[in-house]
Amino acid sequence: MPIIYDSNNQSFNLMTKNSSYIICILENKLLLHAHYGKKIYDLSNVIDTVYEAGGAFNPVDSDIERKAFSSDAAMLEYSFFGTTDLRTCGFNGVFENGTNYVRPYYKSHRIFDGKPKLPGLPATYTEDDSEAQTLEITLKDDVLNVEFLIRYTVFENVDAITRNIEIKNLANEGFDIKSALSMTVDFSDKDFDFVHMFGGWARERQIQKIPLINGGQYVDSKRGSSSHHHSPFMALARKNANETCGEVFGFSLVYSGNFFAGVEVNSGNISRAMMGINPYNFNWRLEGGETFVTPEVVMVYSDKGFGEMSRTYHTIYRTRLVRGKYRDSHRPILINNWEGTYFDFDEEKIVNIAKKAKETGVELMVLDDGWFGHRDDDKSSLGDWYEYEKKLPNGIKGLAEKIDALGMKFGLWYEPEMISPDSELYRKHPDWCISVEGRLQNYGRNQLILDLSRKDVCDYIKGFLTDMLSKAKISYIKWDMNRNFSEVGSALLPKDKMQELPHRYMLNLYDILEYITTAFPDVLFEGCSGGGGRFDAGMLYYFPQYWCSDDSDAIERLYLQYGTSMVMPATTIGAHVSACPNHQVERTTPLSTRGYVAMCGSFGYELNPLAISQEVLDEMKEQITLFKEIRDVIHYGDMYRLSSPFEGENTCFSYVTKDKSKAVSVYVTIMGRPWPGSHRLKFDGLDENAVYIDKDTKKEYSGSLLMNIGLPVCDCKDFESRLFIFEKK
Ligand code: DGJ
Repeated sequence: MPIIYDSNNQSFNLMTKNSSYIICILENKLLLHAHYGKKIYDLSNVIDTVYEAGGAFNPVDSDIERKAFSSDAAMLEYSFFGTTDLRTCGFNGVFENGTNYVRPYYKSHRIFDGKPKLPGLPATYTEDDSEAQTLEITLKDDVLNVEFLIRYTVFENVDAITRNIEIKNLANEGFDIKSALSMTVDFSDKDFDFVHMFGGWARERQIQKIPLINGGQYVDSKRGSSSHHHSPFMALARKNANETCGEVFGFSLVYSGNFFAGVEVNSGNISRAMMGINPYNFNWRLEGGETFVTPEVVMVYSDKGFGEMSRTYHTIYRTRLVRGKYRDSHRPILINNWEGTYFDFDEEKIVNIAKKAKETGVELMVLDDGWFGHRDDDKSSLGDWYEYEKKLPNGIKGLAEKIDALGMKFGLWYEPEMISPDSELYRKHPDWCISVEGRLQNYGRNQLILDLSRKDVCDYIKGFLTDMLSKAKISYIKWDMNRNFSEVGSALLPKDKMQELPHRYMLNLYDILEYITTAFPDVLFEGCSGGGGRFDAGMLYYFPQYWCSDDSDAIERLYLQYGTSMVMPATTIGAHVSACPNHQVERTTPLSTRGYVAMCGSFGYELNPLAISQEVLDEMKEQITLFKEIRDVIHYGDMYRLSSPFEGENTCFSYVTKDKSKAVSVYVTIMGRPWPGSHRLKFDGLDENAVYIDKDTKKEYSGSLLMNIGLPVCDCKDFESRLFIFEKK
């Protein structure tokens, strides 16, 4: 059983294949945290490992008979601000008497098979109750009459534990939640590196690693979306950890709004990892009888470095977070007209692009921005989701029929959450946007954000999407979102609820996404936010794939896709071959390199096939044939990052089928040197006792040779690449 309650030792052992997560109930009924790491089987006297006397100026917990215990100096299971823990805590509230005083004690617990849904929030799931076990511990402050339910689900076979908390106000009077993080985990030392991903537009998810210091270190978002700038992910890695060895603890939040991910190390070197909705500028009024549910964190333990951590995330996110028809089936190979035409298109051009692309084997024509209202640039029409007659005289329905007649699927771009000041919608409903009445409105990409805390606005979005998807033959929707929040105010929310707007927005966005993806289960949804600005685990619950970045240059993509692959599986990473010189960095790279790099994701094209030579079209055709041959290995296999763009002049992404019968490796040189000498590329994840055939040279090599000696590769020429395909003999 993955979850054991040891009543003699008043403790819980949450066991995955390789890890234990141990919680103890102290005699005063506070919950302590004993361990997260290598598997422990016997919990005899485990409490002795966590009992912590404080020093001077650590307030002493006086409800315990043992001497001088201080919550301030101890490892706590979940932390509540207001009494003796003076660090940054998971929960902080302001109650009826105006103070933060809350002191919940253990009341009960329950262990059961399966995993409950989180109401209104995206979360990992089980298909069968036997896949996971759940522990719910209830703590209660009897004086306040408030309960805290701390929930853990253990996916035994994937080394992952999910957790969240629920706060139930059983009293008559309400209180204000100032902070309700989904988790805190106290580690007994600080010998870790804090690893996170930062970025910006067109350079999302760049990896950064810094040693923990006494004090706080964190990443967050206050931008209304998880954003390009930081990702709702962090890892704590032991100093010796690398891609293949060492302990790494991953934390990934299944949420797409304002988040906080950080670590506070106290003076006794206890490191508190914390993650959840950002408490900054957050307030939630919890009235009597109401419950607040936090999003879930997926914690992954690896004792085989970052590589194993990522493979675990890939497995659980691909199979138990992504849902729907496309979870386990091939995504159509698409062409998107954005970089090919930008706003300059009409029906004839789109049909011609589709025709040409079809000759190469492309299966889905996606019409991007500019098809609605009177949109010829990014200055107008968001919200006016009716066709721009000048460009589309037969409407979307007519265009979709023409694409269908070519034997292709049709896809359409939307930016449903936005409103242009120059739009019919804005003229009719100026109060529908997020803004503060009577104050200056500031724009991002000339647009405002619809106030999704309002029901009428949400109904409007559901309505226009339903109408279009019902009338036209649409197989794919690209759901874009091109600005962050500023001037956070709603015309309808009362002032004591105004600070709830960002979280209300997110809950209602999830509700819209649930509604529309359920109503149209055959439509493939691809998420997008100016590229990968909101590419997070929350979105994957609704969108099986996400446009990774607006930077489509193959070399930039090495960094982008490397960082993204820390958590996200290849199936989810939208990756396209675009034209050269590249539109973002003006770099010219070989078409083969652009193809191989895009094949490491959800593959497609983003160029104008009417403007390229027959030679290039022929190569596209070959690429599509090749991709179809190798996509199962890349999409459903295990990923090994054999070299990193962040550490050298080459990158290698390698994929091996679960049964180790086939492997595909993409090797790319970043900057070449004149006669740099060759080095050996050592493969990973193969069966060392098997013989593999190199598909290209037809030569045979043992798995142990490929993994321990490797094959020579040379970084001779800028941007050159090689593809290795090995098949078990
Ligand atoms: C941002 C997206 O990332 C692009 O791919 C494109 O759809 C533009 N928006 C359109 O405005």
